[in-house]
Amino acid sequence: MPNELSGKIAFVTGSGRGLGKTMARKLAEQGADLALHDLDWTSPSKYGEAANLDEVIREFEALGVRTVAVTGNIGDPAAVKRMREEIEAKLGEVQILVNCAGGDIGASGNKPSPNNALDVSFEDIQVLTNNNLIGTMLVTQAFVPQMVRAGTGTVINVASAAAHMGCSPEVVYSTLKAAVVHYTRCLAKELYEQGVRINAVSPGPTKTARFQATRVTDPDKMNSSKASFNRYAEPDEIGDAVAFLAGPRSKFINGQVLRVDGGLTLFPG
Ligand SMILES: NC(=O)c1ccc[n+]([C@@H]2O[C@H](COP(=O)([O-])OP(=O)(O)OC[C@H]3O[C@@H](n4cnc5c(N)ncnc54)[C@H](O)[C@@H]3O)[C@@H](O)[C@H]2O)c1
Repeated sequence: MPNELSGKIAFVTGSGRGLGKTMARKLAEQGADLALHDLDWTSPSKYGEAANLDEVIREFEALGVRTVAVTGNIGDPAAVKRMREEIEAKLGEVQILVNCAGGDIGASGNKPSPNNALDVSFEDIQVLTNNNLIGTMLVTQAFVPQMVRAGTGTVINVASAAAHMGCSPEVVYSTLKAAVVHYTRCLAKELYEQGVRINAVSPGPTKTARFQATRVTDPDKMNSSKASFNRYAEPDEIGDAVAFLAGPRSKFINGQVLRVDGGLTLFPG
């Protein structure tokens, strides 16, 4: 269904690279204008995906949609406010918000080490909480009031398969993603009479550049005998789920979590 999002303005956090960029492209391919975002202008280069946000903007403009990019830490309320003002001045009010920025990246800029419950550092706990939960809440608080006023809008939060099963290592990350799942349900409950839909996508392990660069073992094949599809996800497979939840075909879906993980969490429940 091409162009089912034309006339809409979408903001995807963490869309300078990785899954966020793929999600943003899927929305742009359906006609949405795009506000791209990353921590800073050169974050897209961290795992070699693009030199900077200028390059990413050009990719999106080639799809024929209006595109802007903003930068800032989603865990910083002043930065979030500034980014909203910039997007509204350049594009207009956002009707589709995808809270994608996050990941199991600690204070050092890499995976926390140690990364288990009893040994993970306080500094890493704070950074992970900012990146994965507080940031999602702050961006939601900044962008959803306009949707409520307009009586329409949709939010897609990016959780993880790790939210649905006990994990160690990655204890803090998976705990925070479980909180993102529950936040999604609470927000849907709070806003269901206001015309704003809130859903979440829980990706299984997905072959983004960051994932492949920070994975220590088994880069090509799923390392779990419990996976019903014995492989990692392609970023497009996650992006398609986000585009579905952003558009009119999912108009009766609210407060749900779509696990796009090839059945990985089928068995733990
Ligand atoms: N790739 C996977 O296997 C996988 C699986 C499940 C969930 N996820 C989730 O998908 C999302 C994207 O992951 P990815 O694999 O594309 O990783 P990535 O590191 O390539 O992308 C994350 C993006 O978020 C940005 N970001 C992180 N913290 C930020 C902050 N505080 N402020 C501003 N920007 C910030 C990064 O700069 C980057 O652009 C994350 O939320 C991650 O937890 C990924």
